Amino acid sequence: MKYGHFDDTNREYVITNPKTPYPWINYLGNEDFFSLTSNTGGGYTFYKDAKFRRLTRYRYNNVPVDNGGKYFYIKDGDTTWSPGWKPVKTELDSYECRHGMSYTKFKSSKNGIEAQILQFIPLGFWGEIQKVSLKNTSSETKKLKLFSFIEWCLWNAEDDMINFQRNFSTGEVEIEDSTIYHKTEFKERRNHYAFYSVNTPIDGYDTDRESFLGLYNDFDSPEVVDEGAPKNTIAHGWSPIASHYVEIELKPGEQRDLIFMLGYVEVEKDDKWESKAVINKKPAKAMLAKFDTVDKIDAAYNDLRAYWDRLLGKINIDSGDDRLDRMVNIWNQYQCMVTFNMSRSASFFESGIGRGMGFRDSNQDLIGFVHQIPERARERIFDIASTQFEDGSCYHQYQPLTKKGNSAVGGDFNDDPLWLILSTTEYIKETGDFSLLDEMVPFDNDASRAKPHFEHLKASFYHVVNNLGPHKLPLIGRADWNDCLNLNCFSDDPNESFQTTGNKKGNTAESLMIAGLFVVYGKEYVKLCKRIDKDKEAVEAQKHVENMIKAVKAHGWDGDWYLRAYDFFGNKIGSNENEEGKIFIESQGWCTMAEIGKEEGMVEKSLNAVKKHLDCDYGIVLNSPAFTKYHIEYGEISTYPAGYKENGGIFCHNNPWIMIGETVLGRGDQAYEYYTKIAPSFLEDISELHKVEPYVYCQMIAGKEAFKPGEAKNSWLSGTASWNFFAIFRR
Ligand code: GLC
Ligand code: GLC
Repeated sequence: MKYGHFDDTNREYVITNPKTPYPWINYLGNEDFFSLTSNTGGGYTFYKDAKFRRLTRYRYNNVPVDNGGKYFYIKDGDTTWSPGWKPVKTELDSYECRHGMSYTKFKSSKNGIEAQILQFIPLGFWGEIQKVSLKNTSSETKKLKLFSFIEWCLWNAEDDMINFQRNFSTGEVEIEDSTIYHKTEFKERRNHYAFYSVNTPIDGYDTDRESFLGLYNDFDSPEVVDEGAPKNTIAHGWSPIASHYVEIELKPGEQRDLIFMLGYVEVEKDDKWESKAVINKKPAKAMLAKFDTVDKIDAAYNDLRAYWDRLLGKINIDSGDDRLDRMVNIWNQYQCMVTFNMSRSASFFESGIGRGMGFRDSNQDLIGFVHQIPERARERIFDIASTQFEDGSCYHQYQPLTKKGNSAVGGDFNDDPLWLILSTTEYIKETGDFSLLDEMVPFDNDASRAKPHFEHLKASFYHVVNNLGPHKLPLIGRADWNDCLNLNCFSDDPNESFQTTGNKKGNTAESLMIAGLFVVYGKEYVKLCKRIDKDKEAVEAQKHVENMIKAVKAHGWDGDWYLRAYDFFGNKIGSNENEEGKIFIESQGWCTMAEIGKEEGMVEKSLNAVKKHLDCDYGIVLNSPAFTKYHIEYGEISTYPAGYKENGGIFCHNNPWIMIGETVLGRGDQAYEYYTKIAPSFLEDISELHKVEPYVYCQMIAGKEAFKPGEAKNSWLSGTASWNFFAIFRR
């Protein structure tokens, strides 16, 4: 079943049934200011960091899902409705939500009134626009009451959710003309405030949530809307909101456009106040003046469209299959830019308060957007490399605001360093700019320890060489790409994390995935050394690559496929000898891409085994059979129920590795078949089962051993985006 359709000419997905199987969302904003919006108006807005500068409140894991957002209530006689269907959920005469490139449009109608909303963030602007157009399509004059609604978040999204003993007493607002200012904590350490405004005189307002909703009402029937009159409340503590009230009279055929703006302002420390307790509103007023007419809004919207024309204009395929073309030309590239902006921080599955930028994730994301924004990719490479140490090891994550390595998470994920060779060489191939190799880049964020960027690549390469195990294969550390294969962890305490505690610092557990990865990017490293006349280094590195190939052939082959790893005790993982987890995808992907043992038929055998044991209707599962009991020596992988996540789920990120492996054998048709199983536009007809957006990749689809094979989760922020794009264009 479908819930809408693609409009490729406009680069939009058009949702025509608001009751999608999960909220289908879009991202607004391209630089500092961002907003997530669902197809029913749910979501939230933040400046730069979804944890520390969240403007509007959002309750994750809510019941029902996706309650709360940027809402409008239209009261027309006895009928109240919302253009996005929610929160009122009055049955609409028509409904349409168009998610486009950094904008979303709603168009719906009820009882002879048509409402349109255009929602976007102008380029380079710290404010979100909602252009609301109301048109009377009936033959009678209509008197409408319009209520807007947003709920302020008290800036720190985590504290906002837990620290009620304080937060219920701190909320403060100011109102001037049609603008509601949110100034909680402004008088102490914050030099920023937010505002929500409309470009017309208002007939009332509310800023206290309880007065607006009523203590026992839900968002679908606020007391104020039910009664048809605002209370003009000023919030003191509790939960501040911003709601405008506007009375609108429309003659038959008449239309009115209102421009709402949700903005963010930073002021100088000594320029915070206009007068005693009155905030400096000058910057906000300047922002409002910038976009106070429909013409100005339309011009900004056209600029945004032109911006995306430029970004997407660099690659265009015409394959004869719309489903493929729209993925490659539009949605996959769009998703790659979203992963550039968000990393893994804010989606409807990532709460925006947890994870920073991942070393491995960010390097891999880069291969999906380097052609669109090469200058920013260059900068990103240096940000990442700066969190590395001289021995090649690195912090697993860093914080986007400070760009400092996150010591709470630490390091020792031994695949991490190699991904820097991937991002750097892909950047060079795309741009021809070798000069980044000479740029001085700090180690451990310490400028006094800076060295040319090339030295970082060398450190990455030798980190593997210097950390080999008993079979001369790479030691895995805490985990390799598979975060949940924790072979040095042995955790029996449910209160600790598999990733960050219990590390046994073993010197036996080895990874065939890293071995393959090393051969692929080791060869790239050798090639690079030759290109920049480091011939001696090339010869030296080549030896290490060849030794690794030998080690894989001698100790990494199980007869029909590549092993996955050796555990802490030196036992095989991913072998026919194992009862569960006999075969894993990651080592098949990387060792076939590395072409290890191709002449001896290993590549072909391995990929045939993938087809036989791991492929299913919905994609290639990660391992098979899935684990059915907890193996303390394997870690988190065996905690997931069979068929989900890293335990036998279709982890879409790694499926392209097999596709690329197939191309090594020249089996393009097989590669393409795998592609069509996970590419979202090919799954549109089974949206009911697939559940998440048919226009973006998700991290995981439940595998063949799951309770509900084919059901997907974790859409948007996944390395799946860049790798699928890369698989199509692989050089
Ligand atoms: C998540 C992580 C990524 C990891 C993958 C597999 O997507 O962000 O770093 O490689 O899971 O565990
Ligand atoms: C969990 C997830 C995994 C992710 C890891 C790191 O283990 O299952 O996918 O990579 O957390 O945050």
